[in-house]
Amino acid sequence: MSTSFWVNGEQRTLDVDPSKPLLWVLREQLALTGTKFGCGIAQCGACTVHIDGQAMRSCVTPISRVEGRQVTTIEGLRGDDGDLHPLQQAWIEHQVPQCGYCQSGQLMSASALLSNNPNPSDSDIDAAMSGNICRCGMYGRIREAIKSSSVASTSDEKLFYNVAEVDHV
Ligand code: FES
Ligand code: FES
Repeated sequence: MSTSFWVNGEQRTLDVDPSKPLLWVLREQLALTGTKFGCGIAQCGACTVHIDGQAMRSCVTPISRVEGRQVTTIEGLRGDDGDLHPLQQAWIEHQVPQCGYCQSGQLMSASALLSNNPNPSDSDIDAAMSGNICRCGMYGRIREAIKSSSVASTSDEKLFYNVAEVDHV
């Protein structure tokens, strides 16, 4: 049975088992390996992608659930101009990545947060990011990087618009 959906702005139609998790379709059918497998039971956040702009766990999302919907993966987080997403830039500046395994999921949760709430409080950040586990313990740096990318922390309005635009690439 075929499923048709959008991935990073490109329409894809695939003949796959409708119960196959989106994570494995991304990795195996589409070679988008930036989305990681951690637990497979929606407990770690490593597999987070955006579905219609919302952060979702792709390991427990059957491909049938994305029919006609917009999926964004870490590979689609850059802007149309190829520039890094402001959060990716902040991640570098705050030296967030250590082993790196959790990082694409962290960035997808953080970017969904800022798209929905461009000026999150510490508790908003903690609530939005609580499902993303980092075994390297980079939680403090993740929070600081998100705060430095929020509207409140910058006078550059373009940053806000970039965050919003990238989310529906
Ligand atoms: S692999 Fe999906 S939440 Fe852990
Ligand atoms: S950077 Fe290693 S698990 Fe998060």
